Amino acid sequence: MDVPAPAPGPHDVLVVVRAAGLNPVDFKFRQGKLRVILRPKLPLVLGNELAGEVIAVGRDVKRFRVGDRVFARVAKDRAGAFAEQACVDEDDAAPMPRDLDFTAAAAVPLAALTALQALRDELGVKPGQKVFISGGAGGVGTFAIQIAKWLGAHVTTTASPRGEALVRSLGCDEVIDYTAQDISKAGGQFDAGLDLVGGKTLEQMFEIMIPGTKIVSVAALPEPQSAIKDLAGRRALSAMFWIISYGIRSRARRAGISYRYLFMHPSGSDLAQIAELIEQGQLKVIVDKTYPFAKISDALAYVESGRAKGKVVVTMT
Ligand SMILES: NC(=O)c1ccc[n+]([C@@H]2O[C@H](COP(=O)([O-])OP(=O)(O)OC[C@H]3O[C@@H](n4cnc5c(N)ncnc54)[C@H](OP(=O)(O)O)[C@@H]3O)[C@@H](O)[C@H]2O)c1
Repeated sequence: MDVPAPAPGPHDVLVVVRAAGLNPVDFKFRQGKLRVILRPKLPLVLGNELAGEVIAVGRDVKRFRVGDRVFARVAKDRAGAFAEQACVDEDDAAPMPRDLDFTAAAAVPLAALTALQALRDELGVKPGQKVFISGGAGGVGTFAIQIAKWLGAHVTTTASPRGEALVRSLGCDEVIDYTAQDISKAGGQFDAGLDLVGGKTLEQMFEIMIPGTKIVSVAALPEPQSAIKDLAGRRALSAMFWIISYGIRSRARRAGISYRYLFMHPSGSDLAQIAELIEQGQLKVIVDKTYPFAKISDALAYVESGRAKGKVVVTMT
């Protein structure tokens, strides 16, 4: 539908969107599943990440000029990337990596930031450590494998036979076919765990970690710390998360493992570091399918199928 063009605030850049990346959060948002956490003003233009060109800047913007090519994970309560134009806070944007086209650049921000913030900041992965990543073939997983390798880890992931060649091509050291093998057979040997699947997979991960280590999940149930650290300390949420995560936290305690749910956050400075890794050839961007904007429902349905290998992107004409 036609809506008024967004007007940039003092800290915003106005971007003409050339491509927008899709993520599971887009259909979860549309389904109303994030109502408890996010309360944006409706009606809302969906879409959480984009690549495009700056066509106007707000009064206080310092880092960008008209004509710059930028990419961004936009503010969570703002969204707006599935549109011809979008406003982005300058702190959430970074210059696009050299030699990347808009389609590939739009596939990066949300998934790569999630992987970086989980592995570097929450898990503190060190060279030589053994890292287990569940769900390595998806949008976050394809970045997570490469970032864990960049941090110097030995990486094991789960993938079906449909994703095995892809995860190996990204440098993964060991692959467990989760459709044929129980991951608890991998033995209690891991120093850090990143869960991108949740449910039974997370439960089994507690059995393969060295006691005293940590699992970070972005796909299971949030726990109180995630309300405090990631959602600005909202107390009511913290209490609710305490209740819903009770089972997982008890399971973690019995195994001697620390459990943390992470809500990633937009960050132009983290994105600039990711752009550097891409320019150095340390990080490849895997785009599974590209759709024209007019086919965005098909694109969302594909993401919702849970079978994407790498990322899904819509392009604007
Ligand atoms: N909390 C946060 O801030 C945050 C940020 C980003 C993402 N997330 C969440 O993290 C999850 C992953 O996101 P994503 O973008 O990577 O999703 P995605 O791209 O949709 O993941 C799809 C991939 O997962 C694989 N897969 C499906 N079931 C699996 C299983 N049981 N074991 C191993 N692999 C499996 C699929 O391959 P096969 O079917 O071939 O196995 C497919 O390649 C989602 O739940 C998303 O909402 C949370």
